[in-house]
Amino acid sequence: MNNYQYIKVWTDNEIGNIELHRPKVLNAINQSMVAEILTALCEFDYSEQVKVIVLFGAGKSFAAGADIKEMMGENAVSMELKNQFADWDRIALIKKPVIAAVHGFVLGGGFELALCADMIFAAANSKFGFPEVKLGVMPSAGGCVKLTKLIGKRKALEFLWSGNHLEAEEAKHWGMVNRVVPNELLMQETIHFAEKLKKQPALALRLIKDTVRRAENVTENEAMQYERKNFSLLFASEDQQEGMQAFMEKRSPHFQGK
Ligand code: CAA
Repeated sequence: MNNYQYIKVWTDNEIGNIELHRPKVLNAINQSMVAEILTALCEFDYSEQVKVIVLFGAGKSFAAGADIKEMMGENAVSMELKNQFADWDRIALIKKPVIAAVHGFVLGGGFELALCADMIFAAANSKFGFPEVKLGVMPSAGGCVKLTKLIGKRKALEFLWSGNHLEAEEAKHWGMVNRVVPNELLMQETIHFAEKLKKQPALALRLIKDTVRRAENVTENEAMQYERKNFSLLFASEDQQEGMQAFMEKRSPHFQGK
């Protein structure tokens, strides 16, 4: 494993854990942290010891956004030359299931990072928001785009223009998070769900994720063709044979991930 400065990373019982670890600044996300998160995600994605990845924050919050101190030294040219969003784009290509378990402030780049995950479990004390407008800027790692797709143009504009915070239950109402859980049960509930996912056939999970992501970005017809190809592809897997055989024999399947 790498030596990380801004995150903590470990594997426990086939679950890859990534903890954002700058609690003194509410896990403000600097560029090195994004690079570290990406490295850890890629290592877990390739690791045979990991089936599901869980992303969460140390201390009082998941993340209060991009590191404003770092960002204020930037200019348009330095940002263009750094091509920093390439790391964010690569995060979207992780194939294993990624669950974000969030609590406290989930703001700006922190919210965008959570939205990069496949599912979001939120502690009841979570506060979501895109406060960039109050800094004279706007979201830049997909916030405007993903929010518009999630909740529609009008509500997205209200939210992005005001920079207001949203409570966890309201975020759930708008489909921004999968479920809201009591604060003290956040990790327990998230790991419990990850444990269930672990038992599912890994290739089917991958191709379902691949298809759902495709469905967000192409026409319905293209997505349907893609879905069928992925469906057929699964008939090349041993897990498909095991799943159907187990059904016929009235026993639980034992999936091997191949
Ligand atoms: N960047 C850098 N430092 C941050 C930070 C951030 N985004 N958020 C909080 N911190 C730091 C504070 O400066 C403070 O440090 P010091 O103790 O050294 O002063 C420490 O974390 C604790 O924060 P507060 O004292 O402010 O805590 P609070 O409970 O009073 O307030 C808060 C919490 C409402 C979240 C407030 O910290 C805040 O408004 N933070 C900024 C939120 C924000 O604007 N996020 C968007 C960033 S831009 C972005 O994300 C762009 C993008 O799309 C990529």
